[in-house]
Amino acid sequence: MDFSLDYFKKQIQKFEDGFFGIIHKSIEPAQKLLSYYRCALMEVETKFRVLDEEFSFVHERNPIDNIKSRVKNFESIRKKLRQRRLPVTVNSIEENLHDVAGIRIICPFVDDIYMLADCLLRQDDITLLEKKDYIAQPKESGYRSLHLIIEIPIFLHNEKRHMKVEVQLRTIAMDFWANLEHRLRYKKDIDEETAKKLSVELSACAETSAALDLRMKNIRDSIENKNAL
Ligand code: GTP
Ligand code: MG
Repeated sequence: MDFSLDYFKKQIQKFEDGFFGIIHKSIEPAQKLLSYYRCALMEVETKFRVLDEEFSFVHERNPIDNIKSRVKNFESIRKKLRQRRLPVTVNSIEENLHDVAGIRIICPFVDDIYMLADCLLRQDDITLLEKKDYIAQPKESGYRSLHLIIEIPIFLHNEKRHMKVEVQLRTIAMDFWANLEHRLRYKKDIDEETAKKLSVELSACAETSAALDLRMKNIRDSIENKNAL
């Protein structure tokens, strides 16, 4: 038996190669999938940018103020699957989660939201899987946005894949509100009574904000149509 230092070094190397090989093999398909989601986001973002460009040429104003997108990280994906007692596998991610790829379209006015959503959904490569209109029916918290779950094809070198993307469309005012409310939701060091008071106040702010959105739209209409208010 060879128990030299060299022998042990070689054994450790063999173990390391095997160990990291296994990890690499299981991580690679998941990383590939997240990369496909990034491609899908690029496609959706381009569609919105094209609509914004065309609209601004015709109407001399932009219906999109800002676009934000993100792919959920592994940790959040794992957490969500575990919470729902679903398997943490690549297939399970694709089958069960619809918000791995998320894009947020921030618009100046409420009617921009519906115009953009209609234009997107009329495109023949887009399939609507789910629509939640939290503007027509706000959440109890006061949250407002239009949510679409869509499927969009991405063209890879030798295949076409259909990827799910969550699209959230909201006004600048709705986004301002949602960001503040999100911070409150995740703040750990607030006592229950204060949190309750703040949610009541936030809910009232959501109403004020919706009323402001409407008044601003009426002002815009008056300017564009040269009508009196
Ligand atoms: P999730 O498992 O959270 O994705 O819930 P869901 O599949 O029922 O979707 P839903 O349409 O309710 O919400 C999805 C996303 O909308 C969330 O991840 C948030 O980005 C946003 N959202 C929904 N409700 C609220 C809310 O009350 N406050 C804020 N700030 N954001 C919200
Ligand atoms: Mg979500």
